Amino acid sequence: MSIEIPEGLTELLQSFTVEVLRNQPRDLLEFALQYFTELKESETKGAAFDNDQNSASRSGKAVNFIDEAMQIDSENGEEEEDDDEEFVAPVINRFTRRASVCAEAFNPDEDDEEKEQRITHPKTDEQRHRLQEACKDILLFKNLDPEQMSQVLDAMFEKIVEVGEHIIDQDDDGDNFYVIERGTFEIVVRVEGADRTVGSYDNRGSFGELALLYNAPRAATIIATSLGALWCMDRLTFRRIIVKNNATKRRLYEAFIETLPFLTSLEVSERMKVVDVLSSKCFGTGERIIAQGDMADSFYIVESGRVRITMKHTRTKKDAEEEEVDIATCLRGQYFGELALVTNKPRAASAYAMENVKCLVMDVQAFERLLGPCMDIMKRNIANYEEQLVTLFGSNTEIADQNA
Ligand code: CMP
Ligand code: CMP
Repeated sequence: MSIEIPEGLTELLQSFTVEVLRNQPRDLLEFALQYFTELKESETKGAAFDNDQNSASRSGKAVNFIDEAMQIDSENGEEEEDDDEEFVAPVINRFTRRASVCAEAFNPDEDDEEKEQRITHPKTDEQRHRLQEACKDILLFKNLDPEQMSQVLDAMFEKIVEVGEHIIDQDDDGDNFYVIERGTFEIVVRVEGADRTVGSYDNRGSFGELALLYNAPRAATIIATSLGALWCMDRLTFRRIIVKNNATKRRLYEAFIETLPFLTSLEVSERMKVVDVLSSKCFGTGERIIAQGDMADSFYIVESGRVRITMKHTRTKKDAEEEEVDIATCLRGQYFGELALVTNKPRAASAYAMENVKCLVMDVQAFERLLGPCMDIMKRNIANYEEQLVTLFGSNTEIADQNA
């Protein structure tokens, strides 16, 4: 007897499973109830809309809580004087909020109401220039198309911070995503009641994406350790542009990430989080990706093309002339740039694109947060580097001072 699988069952269960893995709900049954209720509602809403061309009927439940708290860009484009006040996070029932975002995740491509919800904070040319500079290396923005990037820049607003100011407190609800223009910040994580500084930001980078990506409480406290300036993006814009963009990224990279041997120590849900923080970057033939001696802030996985790893080398102690020697080649699925992040030292070697190369890039904070379980494999590899160098250069040759 053959049992017929109802049409749509596999997709339904797959999407549900993915949402469970992504959200890691504490109460699975409650999550399931919410998921399927919202799914049904959005289906009913979709059907209602098909019969009703009046766009007013589309106002999505998913964003109502934000509508109440924020002034969404208006046709008149008036600038509010106090950004902070305008964007004070609403006190939201967590359950309602989670449900709302859960609903957003069902259909990341649904964006007909977007245009009415764009948030714009007018800026002077000088402000926009500073903002563009601060955003140019932000990994989460790397895969955005020009239109999305322009919307991101429009929506961001400036915030000056004082020494000792808590920008984010662990366990709070997430309101904004932050890009650092200047200033230093401490990252503090409370584990079993004890606060521990786990890292810092020094005049660059971004933070505050996790609570918005996963609809979770803030995972760390961020404290300004100097006077500083931040650019903030509200939760709604973040979800509308970045989360949607991430959904596309997941479709592109999930399968590839599953094949990477050095990530096998991670759970499936952890590998998904890796996909979320990666961004892809292209390099032309001969382009330098990493320079030996530089300070490090990124980790690279080769997606396509070949990468040449080279090291400066002097034949003898007296020989002033350095040559750059090939020491390894990285191919699709292999990684590089982990050593400086693990040892907290400058880059030990340089990396060059041997042809057009595409890499997936992860910043140091994400590397430290997510790849801890892969450290054993990485350290085993690192142990081989020394051996590899002795084989290449012999034991009495000298590797150029990598700190130079
Ligand atoms: P979020 O949880 O929204 O708010 C705190 C932010 O701190 C978090 O997003 C990350 O952007 C950032 N962060 C940096 N390092 C860590 C870490 N080790 N654990 C958790 N959050 C971190
Ligand atoms: P990192 O020092 O961050 O930047 C250069 C990278 O080259 C390094 O990390 C390693 O990932 C990679 N590499 C490959 N072979 C070697 C080697 N023998 N010694 C040092 N780095 C190597």
